[in-house]
Amino acid sequence: MLSSMCTQPHPAAREAAGEFLAANPGDPATYQEIADLERRAVELLGDIVDLPQPEGFISSGGTEANIQAVRAARNRSSTATPNVVAPESVHFSFSKAADVLGVELRTVPVDSDYRADVAAVAAAADRETVLIVGVAGTTEHGRVDPIPELTEIAADVDASMHVDAAWGGFALPFTDQAWNFADAPIDTMTIDPHKLGQAVVPAGGFLVRDAATLDALAVETPYLESTSQATLTGTRSGAGVASAVAAIEALWPDGYRRQFERSMADAEWLTEALADRGFETVEPTLPLVAARIPEPLFEALRAEGWRISRTGSGALRVVCMPHVTREMLRSFVADIDKLT
Ligand SMILES: Cc1ncc(COP(=O)(O)O)c(C=O)c1O
Repeated sequence: MLSSMCTQPHPAAREAAGEFLAANPGDPATYQEIADLERRAVELLGDIVDLPQPEGFISSGGTEANIQAVRAARNRSSTATPNVVAPESVHFSFSKAADVLGVELRTVPVDSDYRADVAAVAAAADRETVLIVGVAGTTEHGRVDPIPELTEIAADVDASMHVDAAWGGFALPFTDQAWNFADAPIDTMTIDPHKLGQAVVPAGGFLVRDAATLDALAVETPYLESTSQATLTGTRSGAGVASAVAAIEALWPDGYRRQFERSMADAEWLTEALADRGFETVEPTLPLVAARIPEPLFEALRAEGWRISRTGSGALRVVCMPHVTREMLRSFVADIDKLT
């Protein structure tokens, strides 16, 4: 399976999940143990993203976290015609957010290296812009947008700044990229334990710098002993929360670092192997490989049983997740040789 952004959970995550299958973090006054674990998960995520006093929650995934980022920015602004400015490389969850929240999504072109074009973002932002989005680890090319520059644009138009590190967040601490809360005065971030964090599905993450951002999301919760709720979902997976804590405690930072180094080496190896065979490739920034291969070859590889996917422009996309080994990639390349 070379196309997934999820992976086999760490054994500790699997075990922790099993203990909390019926616990509901959406009712923290009843399920106090899982509520404590959620606070711990947020604290651990804060370490990873360099946010000393993190606030936030474990979501159902990156989609919910991104929707909540848009919702919080919209609720904190007074404009009647809000818009969100993002590079065209943003995940499709922002289209859902715009649709359900009645917000205009303005996507602008990326540059020749698939990163947000800062000038295009600046040109699209105006006084009705409530949020600027940058992606730290894009879904199709694993690129990191120029987060500090985008954050300056957000400040210029008095908008919030959101970083979508749903996939990249557990790899980026081991790079020299500027992407986190210490690198720029960003307001919110998505970072998903159920992707490179090796927790079980579902375990997304939504983090905010300022508790007032969560207040902008909170609704009152009559019939629960807790008073308000900032998540979009009500009843949530205790398994996801417990597994996030277990995975991060087992792997942060050395286990994630080793994993990143191995996956990055694999991504570079595959890129080179594909380039050697004459295919046009994209140099990886994170462990994600993109290469242009003929459509019949793509179809033939799918027919051989390889789970592979395509970028929007039709290029082969291989995500080197922890379950992807060098041996697997060697056999993938051997099949390419056999089929060409
Ligand atoms: C950058 C990015 N953001 C958000 C998402 C959505 O996450 P989920 O599928 O967990 O809702 C993805 C999914 O791959 C992603 O790559």
